[in-house]
Amino acid sequence: MDIVKMINTPAEAASRGSMPFVPFDTCFQQLANQMMNCPDGQSPPCILLFQGGGRGSGVSTISRLFAHYLSEKVLMRVLLIDADFDNPTLHKIHRMPPSPGFADYLEGTRGPDIAQSIGNLSVMAAGDKSLLPRTLLSGRSDFKARLRELGKEYEMIILDAAPITTCPETFSLASCTDGVIFVAKSEKTRKAVVHATMNQLHLARAKVVGGVLNFRRFHIPTWLYH
Ligand SMILES: Nc1ncnc2c1ncn2[C@@H]1O[C@H](COP(=O)(O)OP(=O)(O)OP(=O)(O)O)[C@@H](O)[C@H]1O
Ligand SMILES: [Mg+2]
Repeated sequence: MDIVKMINTPAEAASRGSMPFVPFDTCFQQLANQMMNCPDGQSPPCILLFQGGGRGSGVSTISRLFAHYLSEKVLMRVLLIDADFDNPTLHKIHRMPPSPGFADYLEGTRGPDIAQSIGNLSVMAAGDKSLLPRTLLSGRSDFKARLRELGKEYEMIILDAAPITTCPETFSLASCTDGVIFVAKSEKTRKAVVHATMNQLHLARAKVVGGVLNFRRFHIPTWLYH
């Protein structure tokens, strides 16, 4: 499996009141560079799935901030999708109804127009989870085709997903994307969980294209890092 270098995102709350060691934008610039600079002959990923090693690693925060970064600073047309059907949060932040959403789109009852746009960024809620078992049974090729169809309208699609180790929907979705970004919580995500996640991603034939070490705390003085 290809694992490109992990980027570090600081524990923001911990650095409040003092200068954060690495501003978030710098982290996202590194991640964007990592995505765009592909080896010769390979095209950059356009459908990216973010998922973590357990709950609360910061997947929703990182995927949302990365989507904002790409749409505002890199001026890309970005679609951010809430693909965490067990714990959807995006609709609350964007003050939109939880349904219709991505589940309805995958099921084929709704079109891409259910996404709400603000400038370059469009957002799609998770939708009605009860539609999913039927959709999952309809097979991965269907998922893939529906996702590719969305890809015609956007330069980047970002999926905020639940951990693959506990969520079968993430397993199905991961293989339909161009790449997966693994988000780990610094000093909390255990090695065994990382291994279990990588195994599941491997079984799903997903391509891991990058990692984020979130909530990183810098215990020694900043100047020692330079
Ligand atoms: N780098 C960070 N520094 C400080 N707080 C953070 C950071 N990243 C995330 N958080 C906070 O941690 C909490 C959990 O983050 P978030 O909801 O993004 O995690 P998640 O992995 O999506 O969780 P879940 O698996 O439950 O969906 C939120 O309150 C968020 O604001
Ligand atoms: Mg989340």
